Amino acid sequence: MQVNDGYAIIVEKVWKVYKIGKNEYPALRGLTLNVREGEMLSVMGPSGSGKSTFLHIAGTLDRPTSGRVILNGIDTSGLSDSELSEIRNKLIGFVFQSFNLISRLTALENVALPLAVRGVPLQERQAASLEALRLVGLENKAKKKPTELSGGEQQRVAIARGLVGKPKILLADEPTGNLDSKNSQVVVEILRNINESFGTTVVVVTHNPEVAEKCDRIIRLRDGVVESEVVLHA
Ligand SMILES: Nc1ncnc2c1ncn2[C@@H]1O[C@H](COP(=O)(O)OP(=O)(O)OP(=O)(O)O)[C@@H](O)[C@H]1O
Ligand SMILES: [Mg+2]
Repeated sequence: MQVNDGYAIIVEKVWKVYKIGKNEYPALRGLTLNVREGEMLSVMGPSGSGKSTFLHIAGTLDRPTSGRVILNGIDTSGLSDSELSEIRNKLIGFVFQSFNLISRLTALENVALPLAVRGVPLQERQAASLEALRLVGLENKAKKKPTELSGGEQQRVAIARGLVGKPKILLADEPTGNLDSKNSQVVVEILRNINESFGTTVVVVTHNPEVAEKCDRIIRLRDGVVESEVVLHA
């Protein structure tokens, strides 16, 4: 079924209930949240309010307990795990706070990983990865290992890896969480630049107000639902 109406992400009445033994922890409680194609959205809210859970579910890394997620017009609820991972590979790039870089690989090789998963040939993979590193201003560090890079540079490598496959949607979970104020600004400017240059839909989970105010809209979650919304750029 195709229903998108200009939305890249539609999260509709989503519940996510984690079960541990006999206990149930509802992380999302009927969350409804839509993200427009080409929008840059920031998601804020206290620790435990469901921000990462939302990002995982919007990115099909996890399935809702109930409710549905529609990505680029594709209702993901009926899809098999392999169909989901295909959509994820094609459509979505992820950037995590902890960078998740592989220490024995160079920056270039780390960036190339999503393309390797897709079976892109080596030369093409290297060219695309170098281009992604150029977008984050690190083409001259392509051969460095993560330990030879600063925290800010490692985060930029992680962003390059998130965007190397030219995703329509980039999901970032506290991408500046481990960075100082100056590097945080650099990172948010890179994300904004990607958003504006390629029309990539960007969702940034952040605790940093300076990052949030660079976005088009700020959503605050509390207890697994939207508490408030501020539109900064229509
Ligand atoms: N795998 C899991 N198993 C059980 N409970 C979980 C799991 N993941 C998250 N939770 C719970 O769900 C709630 C929401 O967690 P989530 O990670 O989405 O919060 P968050 O808003 O990202 O917080 P933070 O700002 O600390 O990263 C929390 O109460 C958390 O303890
Ligand atoms: Mg989180």
